[in-house]
Amino acid sequence: MEKLSSKDKELIRDSWENLGKNKVPHGIVMFTRLFELDPTLLTLFSYKTKCGVVPECLSSPEFLEHVTKVMLVIDAAVSHLDDLHTLEDFLLNLGKKHQDVGVKTQSFAVVGEALLYMLQCSLGAGYTAALGQAWLNMYSIVVSAMTRGWAKNGEHKSN
Ligand code: HEM
Repeated sequence: MEKLSSKDKELIRDSWENLGKNKVPHGIVMFTRLFELDPTLLTLFSYKTKCGVVPECLSSPEFLEHVTKVMLVIDAAVSHLDDLHTLEDFLLNLGKKHQDVGVKTQSFAVVGEALLYMLQCSLGAGYTAALGQAWLNMYSIVVSAMTRGWAKNGEHKSN
């Protein structure tokens, strides 16, 4: 796993703390953006049938649960910036689970774009290019492990 610079870590930790304790509203901004960027992702959630439009979906308990889970994974990564490798097995398995539910690895990059959008909205003037890059550096480490788990799962299926 790659390493982050001390500056990256400082920018990530400070900005994450600035978002406040309850990360779910920020997660909703992020997923609203994600579904704007790629509405087809909505259909991967089996419980999508219970709602019609995106705002309605995102306020349903099942969608909120996924948003909460995503924010918890990001929180775990922010808490382990010095030892991200300890999350490796968890992230490999998470990638595998997303392969199972039909998420394509390219969609992880769209989540990265939605993450930066959320940070810009939530941090306002506190958002800088260096901060965005620091987050992208961290997110790409997380996604790289998820992608390896995803690929391994796919290999196993085609054998
Ligand atoms: C590319 C966009 C994504 C889509 C379409 C997607 C979709 C799904 C679906 C359909 C499930 C299974 C149902 C559920 O638990 O709600 C799931 C589970 C989950 N997702 Fe995602 N996901 C995406 C990205 C992410 C990302 C980026 C993370 C974290 C960084 C994440 C974290 C999780 C977690 C923790 C679970 C629960 C896994 C378990 O059951 O152990 N997801 N996701």
